[in-house]
Amino acid sequence: MQRLADKTALITGAARGIGRAFAEAYVREGATVVIADIDLGRAKQTAADIGPKAHACALDVTSQASIDDAVAATVRDFGGIDILINNAALFDLAPIVEITRDSYDRLFSINLAGCLFTLQAVAKTMIARGRGGKIINMASQAGRRGEPLVAVYCATKAAVISLTQSAGLDLIKHGINVNAIAPGVVDGEHWDGVDALFAKYEHRAPGEKKRLVGEAVPFGRMGTAEDLTGMAVFLAGPESDYIVAQTYNVDGGNWMS
Ligand SMILES: NC(=O)c1ccc[n+]([C@@H]2O[C@H](COP(=O)([O-])OP(=O)(O)OC[C@H]3O[C@@H](n4cnc5c(N)ncnc54)[C@H](O)[C@@H]3O)[C@@H](O)[C@H]2O)c1
Repeated sequence: MQRLADKTALITGAARGIGRAFAEAYVREGATVVIADIDLGRAKQTAADIGPKAHACALDVTSQASIDDAVAATVRDFGGIDILINNAALFDLAPIVEITRDSYDRLFSINLAGCLFTLQAVAKTMIARGRGGKIINMASQAGRRGEPLVAVYCATKAAVISLTQSAGLDLIKHGINVNAIAPGVVDGEHWDGVDALFAKYEHRAPGEKKRLVGEAVPFGRMGTAEDLTGMAVFLAGPESDYIVAQTYNVDGGNWMS
């Protein structure tokens, strides 16, 4: 049985990585998926790879006009949005004394404001439609605890956990469940970039940081994007109707809360 049959999902930042795996899993479960990404060329390729139930859409979550356009286009083309995954995010790394205003502004603009205002735009359409909905925010283990070189990213993800609580409590009266997933360390292009930043700041060989963080996971390895899809399908489907404002760790045992 397909658990998301006849549902429409908008997934931000789904051209690659975890968002792409979510799009593939949702299509397998019967949903129509809009892959909304700042990299439209790659979003189109990803949609073509997945098949006719995946559609690409240009979206820059730092622009209110772009959010409004993407949400309006999805509602126009597919009749409404049942599921939103706020997945788009950016990572950066610097010691406290080297953090720049530019990096701070970019990370908060994408990771927090992008999450809030996409959630807001989609929630308005869900309320107007009167059928409720499911909103999943991508948090991180980085939002559970600070890290010496990762202050700004960690702060954005702690804020996403807090936003998930507030939005979850506010929107459940409309039948909209807002919850979050906190992954640990997930291998892919994102972590290739993270590894390169750690190589620079901790004077490590390429690949060394990845190996170390993988060995430190209680499960015994880094996660894969596919490791997260079960939770993403669960939080989008009817089995999670009574779950409100929660953040779930899917991290191989790194964090307990
Ligand atoms: N990979 C990990 O280890 C890990 C761990 C914890 C949390 N997460 C979170 O999971 C989510 C997905 O991570 P990932 O590893 O797939 O990242 P990724 O960097 O591989 O993918 C991010 C996607 O977001 C898009 N994007 C960037 N800026 C955008 C913008 N302004 N508007 C729209 N799209 C934009 C990119 O083009 C890209 O397709 C993120 O929220 C990330 O913080 C990842």
